[in-house]
Parts: sequence; C-alpha cells; structure tokens
Amino acid sequence: MSSSSLDLAFWYLGRGTGVVSLVLLTLVVALGIATRSGRPLPGLPRFAVAAVHRNAGLLAVVLLVLHVGTLLLDPVAQLRLLDLVLPFVGSYRPLWLGLGTLGLDMMVALIVTSLLRARIGVRAWRAVHWLAYAAWPVALLHSLGTGTDAGTPWLRAIAAGCLALVAAAVAWRTSTGFSDATGGRRGIGVPAAPHRRPDVLR
Ligand code: HEM
Repeated sequence: MSSSSLDLAFWYLGRGTGVVSLVLLTLVVALGIATRSGRPLPGLPRFAVAAVHRNAGLLAVVLLVLHVGTLLLDPVAQLRLLDLVLPFVGSYRPLWLGLGTLGLDMMVALIVTSLLRARIGVRAWRAVHWLAYAAWPVALLHSLGTGTDAGTPWLRAIAAGCLALVAAAVAWRTSTGFSDATGGRRGIGVPAAPHRRPDVLR
C-alpha cells in the first residue's frame, strides 16, 4: 500500500470512528437517563439498562481513541499530541477542533470518576456526571463544524437523529412523571428505606 493510500485509509477511519463515537455518546446519554429513571426498557431489565449504559460509554472511549489516533496521522489536520488534551491551541480549525478536545477531556473525567466511584463517593461522582449534559452538545458541534462530511445529507440526518433522541430523553428527565417513578431524588443503587416489621410498629 502506498503512503498516500495509507493516509487515505487513516482519514476514512478517522471520520468513520468519529461518527460512530457521536452515535454511541448519544446512546450513552439516553441510557444514562433511563438508568437514572430506575425503569426497565423494552427487552432490557433494569440492571441491563445500567450495564449497557456503562459498556457503551467505555466503547465510545475506545472509538474516540481510534478517532484521534488515526487523525493524528492525517497530513492535512497535522495534529500535535498537545491538541488531544489542550483545547483551542491547534492551528487546524482551532474552534471546532478545540470543541472536540474539550469533549474528549470531559469524557475522560466522566469515565475516570465512574471507575473510581466507590472511592470518591456518590456525591462527588454525581457532581462530575452532570458534565455529560455539556459534553454531548460540545461533541455534536465539533462533529458538525470540523468534519469533511458535515454538509452531507447522511451526516446531517445522523446528527438530527441524535439531537432528537437526546432532546426526547432530556424532556423526559425534566418531566414531573420522571421523578414520580424514582420516588423523588432516590437514585439508582441507593436502597429504599427498609420497611418496618409490623411487630415493631407500636
Ligand atoms: C467527544 C469527542 C469527539 C467526537 C464525538 C468526535 C466526532 C467527530 C465527528 C462525528 C467528526 C466528523 C467526521 C466526518 O466528517 O465524517 C469529527 C471530525 C474530526 N475530528 Fe473529532 N470527535 C471528538 C473528538 C476529537 C478530538 C479530541 C480530536 C483531536 C484533537 C478530533 C479531531 C477531529 C478532526 C481533525 C476531524 C476532521 C476529520 C476530517 O473530516 O478530515 N476529534 N469528529
């Protein structure tokens, strides 16, 4: 394979993995909201909703590593390692690329705190987890601003589908019916107060 066709292969892989990451991140946000609701989904019992949410998040990070790894080799974008961690300092489309870097930084914070949840405690974990609501639009803007395919009908259709799913999930999350099902602010994994035995109810 000549070096130019290898460049081309990496460029295609970089774009493809970017699109799959965006779709996965969308599913992760929607499944995160479903997990918080404490309800099962059609075909998925409660515990499976949480497991799919977690595993889709980890898979999204793997895809993102491939996305930045392949685009690091792209002779047009000419990314430096610093561009992968520090937003808005690159020379190639700095604003749109910087949003991608910001999204990646937030994703790393979300995953690391989730893996360390037992150590840092639920309060700190939840405080960081609110970042997910900021990371997703940042990733969407990066996808539409940076990409070669941004103007194509298929990428616009995918972005519109992602937006519709997240908008519907957030609308459900902020509806009054949502907290009714969770019993107020009670979260997943936090057991309900134990029922008192009738013989001690005097
Ligand atoms: C939340 C994290 C990210 C997501 C969801 C994401 C997703 C995407 C998507 C969907 C595209 C459009 C691909 C296309 O046009 O077919 C794209 C393009 C691109 N992304 Fe990302 N990205 C993320 C982070 C990053 C980071 C951290 C970098 C590097 C610093 C980066 C570098 C690029 C570049 C250079 C392009 C343009 C590729 C091209 O069309 O030539 N992305 N990204």
